[in-house]
Amino acid sequence: MATREKRLYTCTECGAQQPKWAGQCPDCGAWNSLQETVAAAPAGERHRRGGFSGSAGQGRDALDLAAVDLVAERRISLDMPELERVLGGGLVPGSVVLLGGDPGIGKSTLLLQALAAAAARGVKALYVTGEESPQQVRLRAERLGLSDEAVRLLAETQVERILEVAARERPGVMVIDSVQTVFTDLLQSAPGSVAQVRESTAQLVRFAKTTGSTLFLAGHVTKEGALAGPRVLEHMVDTVLYFESDAGSRYRIIRAIKNRFGAANELGMFAMTDGGLKPVSNPSAIFLSRHDGPVSGSVITVTREGSRPLLVEVQALVDASHIANPRRVTLGLDNSRLAMLLAVLHRHGGIATFDQDVFVNVVGGVRLNETGADLAVVMAVLSSFRDRDLPAELVVFGEVGLAGEIRPVQGGEERLREAAKHGFRRAVVPEANRPRRAVKGMEVMAAKRLGDVLDVF
Ligand code: TYD
Ligand code: MG
Repeated sequence: MATREKRLYTCTECGAQQPKWAGQCPDCGAWNSLQETVAAAPAGERHRRGGFSGSAGQGRDALDLAAVDLVAERRISLDMPELERVLGGGLVPGSVVLLGGDPGIGKSTLLLQALAAAAARGVKALYVTGEESPQQVRLRAERLGLSDEAVRLLAETQVERILEVAARERPGVMVIDSVQTVFTDLLQSAPGSVAQVRESTAQLVRFAKTTGSTLFLAGHVTKEGALAGPRVLEHMVDTVLYFESDAGSRYRIIRAIKNRFGAANELGMFAMTDGGLKPVSNPSAIFLSRHDGPVSGSVITVTREGSRPLLVEVQALVDASHIANPRRVTLGLDNSRLAMLLAVLHRHGGIATFDQDVFVNVVGGVRLNETGADLAVVMAVLSSFRDRDLPAELVVFGEVGLAGEIRPVQGGEERLREAAKHGFRRAVVPEANRPRRAVKGMEVMAAKRLGDVLDVF
């Protein structure tokens, strides 16, 4: 094959690659965004650089699945239970974890704690800071009481130099804080641009895979909640974690969006304290705002995000609207889900809210992704609309279908037991979730259709 200099132009907005320069990106329509980039290495070269560690000698030819050597999965335990819960266990050598979140939410704090924990267990730890000076990192370590740990520090943003140092240090765990600050000299675009983040990350991932270092990448999140930089980052790494908390709350929730080594959608709960992020072992209690008495529009539901049940308070406010398009505002809940539930409430319950503003909030900044909260949303809306409160010791869960039926959810009994543990005495659940054996101290009302719950209060 003739070696011909290959030029490529990559759009700094969408990351698309074009063979020719143009004033406008043919893919996303951005102007003046195409920049010259390094072409991918020829296929043979790419092979040699290798995608995975440990595949040397095994590659090239196909082989029987059963013949693949299983290297016993040795994870590095950190003794940080909530972090390990979202990671699916200890650190997997050679894995790459992306930790996204708003500025100031605690990414640097958590990663420094994780590194110190690894160092305390004899694993070589390297912290690469691109945002803060070594003094600032040292100050934080002091605040956390971790300044004596054997964490190595590097203030550098050029990825080639980072990898040069890393090759010398041979860390077992490495943190890049943050991925938006690193850049490669191969490209001319500014650090933080899509092409830069992608190319630098590719180099870092390659390093992790070939050396077996565990790599953590801290990443910023834009106002819209997406990771600043290319979405493609999420495909390049093994695990994607997001902080998803209320800025005002001192509790921090980390959700695993993707995890090649554990369950996705698992939640880890932390509290930000003077001494850094501390695990919350009984998370149910923190999402309930204790009211003195019953209040209208407030319903407690038991959700199951991840592998454990969680008590969460859903609040609704329904108020006469004075605008032509009444508002439907949700916090911690899908907006179109609310619109759907209001339609079901009208069609199958005869409750019209087309002239009402409807606000729904999930207390504590947790996001409800599962449909098991439907019934709680409906009942909170109903309670506010009628201005009648629900019994304080009541929990509600169940999915609401378009035909007005109440559908079962997973782990019904487990949810009931969790509610009973926290002193709840009554529950409204889907008929199919009616427990076979009575749950102690819990009076269960089972509902088949929306009509069954309209007269609960
Ligand atoms: P940080 O880890 O710097 O956030 P990020 O890297 O995501 O931008 O966290 C900063 C916030 O955490 C800051 O507002 C101070 C607070 N904090 C504590 O409350 N206690 C602590 O022990 C530390 C280190 C930080
Ligand atoms: Mg930071």
